[in-house]
Amino acid sequence: MSTFAFAPEAISTSTSEAVAREARAGLTATPKTLSPWLFYDEAGSHFFEEITELPEYYPTRTERSIFAAHADEILRQAALGQGPAGKLTLIELGAGTATKTGILLAAAVRQQGSVVYQPVDVSETALAEATENILKNIPGVTVRCQVTDYTREALPLNRLPNTRTLALYIGSSIGNFTPAGSCEVLRNLRAQLLPGDTLLLGTDLVPGKHKTEATLLAAYDDAAGTTAAFNLNVLTRLNRDLGADFDTEKFRHKVLWNPAESRIEMHLESLAAQRVHVPENSSGPALTINFATGETIHTENSYKFTPAAVEALLTSASFKLTRSWQDPKNLFAVTLATAL
Ligand code: AVJ
Repeated sequence: MSTFAFAPEAISTSTSEAVAREARAGLTATPKTLSPWLFYDEAGSHFFEEITELPEYYPTRTERSIFAAHADEILRQAALGQGPAGKLTLIELGAGTATKTGILLAAAVRQQGSVVYQPVDVSETALAEATENILKNIPGVTVRCQVTDYTREALPLNRLPNTRTLALYIGSSIGNFTPAGSCEVLRNLRAQLLPGDTLLLGTDLVPGKHKTEATLLAAYDDAAGTTAAFNLNVLTRLNRDLGADFDTEKFRHKVLWNPAESRIEMHLESLAAQRVHVPENSSGPALTINFATGETIHTENSYKFTPAAVEALLTSASFKLTRSWQDPKNLFAVTLATAL
């Protein structure tokens, strides 16, 4: 039996305040920045869904192909060492609409008859969609949604007796954090797990034999302009949520590969010398922001990993690498690790 437990009272009331604070801090900084979580309002979440289906954006379909090839093995490995009555509970950080998770949930149901799935995300609309899709398509899953910013708040781990947690952190979401930040996110996660619990981490890989820099750049600068629209939408969001007056036609989507930092960077480049205003709000007084021609707002980092870097990251957060899977072209890696 599947149940729907989408608790509106669990929705963070502080989102608009967090948007105001984040925008103020980022737009008054030098260089200017905006945090990537700001992308994911309703329109942004839809743009991201579109991105995952673009011909140039290989990460989603590649990770899905790894799950399709190895889901049973992944779930078996995660369950190893458990008592006979024990079941895995799956929790997913940054679940979004959870389109790839279904493959893992179906494998969990095959293995243990039923599974409790706890998706966590900042986007309420994405979680509602995730829940609907899963309940419709995979019998045997109980869904418990939580609208939470997992980088700031504790995870809703409702641990049942004789269960072990498999935490999913897939889609290379970890790539948005600096090395220090990603270590902290995994340490926080580790602190909420018990020894023997597991983490399944999805990471996009650095360029290699079958993966050129051009492949990487195209994935973030697609021909249809969907990623550009996704990037520019953050300004539309600030106009709507904060009453700012960004003219989105006076900014352009800019992408670069930063090899020294091993990351793709997305920026919004100002096409003119211009002023943008943000009215006063709960986070402080009205702002006038000056842009020079060519000045950018750095809106996203997407770090790319070597297998050794993944292992080092896991080790630094007190996980032990159990097993790793890649696609035949070594575009993407899925790594299972055990909490020490
Ligand atoms: C959701 C962070 C994994 O970095 O590839 C996609 C976001 N940005 N296209 C990524 C994103 C532009 C994505 N992550």
